[in-house]
Amino acid sequence: MEFSVKSGSPEKQRSACVVVGVYEPRRLSGVAEQLDKVSGGYLSNLLRRGDLEGKSGQMLLLHNVPNVFSERVLLVGCGKERELDERQYKQIIEKTIHTLNETGSMEAVCFLSELHVKGRDTYWKVRQAVEAAQSGLYTFNQLKTRKEEPRRPLRKLVFNVPTRRELPLSEKAIAHGLAVAKGMSICRDVANMPPNICTPRYLAERSKELASNYDNMSFTAVTEQEMAELGMNAYLAVGRGSENESVLSLIHYQGAAKEHAPIVLVGKGLTFDAGGISIKPAANMDEMKYDMGGAAAVLGTMQAIAELQLPINVIGAIAGCENMPDGRAYRPGDVLTTMSGQTVEVLNTDAEGRLVLCDTLTYVERFEPEAVVDIATLTGACIIALGHHASGLMSSHNPLAHELLSASEQSGDRAWRLPLWDEYQEALDSPFADMANLGGRDAGTITAACFLSRFTKKYHWAHLDIAGTAWRSGAKKGATGRPVALLTQFIINRTASGEQD
Ligand code: BES
Ligand code: MN
Ligand code: ZN
Repeated sequence: MEFSVKSGSPEKQRSACVVVGVYEPRRLSGVAEQLDKVSGGYLSNLLRRGDLEGKSGQMLLLHNVPNVFSERVLLVGCGKERELDERQYKQIIEKTIHTLNETGSMEAVCFLSELHVKGRDTYWKVRQAVEAAQSGLYTFNQLKTRKEEPRRPLRKLVFNVPTRRELPLSEKAIAHGLAVAKGMSICRDVANMPPNICTPRYLAERSKELASNYDNMSFTAVTEQEMAELGMNAYLAVGRGSENESVLSLIHYQGAAKEHAPIVLVGKGLTFDAGGISIKPAANMDEMKYDMGGAAAVLGTMQAIAELQLPINVIGAIAGCENMPDGRAYRPGDVLTTMSGQTVEVLNTDAEGRLVLCDTLTYVERFEPEAVVDIATLTGACIIALGHHASGLMSSHNPLAHELLSASEQSGDRAWRLPLWDEYQEALDSPFADMANLGGRDAGTITAACFLSRFTKKYHWAHLDIAGTAWRSGAKKGATGRPVALLTQFIINRTASGEQD
């Protein structure tokens, strides 16, 4: 879909449809009032007769409103004016797009970007509207032989902003929104792909393909053989039970001078996590194809960054691997020597993410990064702690944690910080090695992060546990595209041209 912005009055728009808000109870928004005036009280009459209460999400489509140039007027219920918050705003936009798609307007001018949303400016409103619109249109039907094409006539959406002064920033909001939406859609496509297709090699191919689309992007890969030479024995151990070779894919984006230290994004890429010898129960095991959600988010974010050509250096590291039970598989009791030299006693082969990540975190030291953020569907315990609304954030570096939290606040892609105090470290003590690969039942999300922290001493590091946010289960099962919006915002904020905030 195409988006643009302009600043004009509602009655003068020559469009298939003008979209304006109505508050509860039966109160016209400022823009709707303008339409009411030129139409000789046409709208207020309808409200008086009880056609629309103004409850959030209600829709009423009108044709041929007197003295209005556009063919249609869509009245959208926005709830109580004082209560209009971010969540409601996004829901209203999604419903509006849905209605426009169902009712045959090819284009529309939307005045909902002028609604007052608590604490948010025009940039935010336009950007969120673009993201909500695009995300609502997402479908994954590549693997269906009979594709149901949804009715989707809306091609062009124009957002109206109150003053011309706001046009440049609103245009930026559209560019940012589109880049994030595209990144999220790639993230969702890759994450939804089944594990017989989406293997570590497939992740490498998608990474290579992405890099080939941009002049300032390149791709390299670390194969099993190279991992063996480097001593990445923890990573290799996890993949040993699988027929699919492990591959660590690296996407290098160069948007600034070579001397600038890069930000490194590390994604857990378990294309299937059966648990290994500590095998998982059968129920919902299919969802463990999403255990590469971190890797998918890194791919999506790299896409968004490249699309915006942000002036910064970023490296995406995609740790592809599959965890399967087999005669060659690693076992509980094994002691592994990691690339860092530290030894790990395996107590449970299902705590595999940290083993793949620890060697990757050591590997990326060679880039002398400005900061490293890893993104991983790491622990079921994170879903117990935070549910499906927030990603878990842990960091040993306060300023980096705060940057990520404010990016999450700005983007609406929520994260919540959990502590990483030294007291939690002793849970990893092992009688046979430097540490165990799990720390018992208590605070499982934190002890997993404690494990990773031991491999991140050489740089500033943060960890996002996305076990609860990367995908949805149940009737609407599917990847969410999170936390691409958060990560892209984090990178935007780090660049000089990110002055929108
Ligand atoms: N990929 C899982 C974590 C997970 C489970 C994410 C369910 C989302 C939904 C991870 O590899 C895992 O199995 N973690 C174990 C760790 C335990 C053995 C210490 C877990 O969370 O149960
Ligand atoms: Mn596991
Ligand atoms: Zn896993």
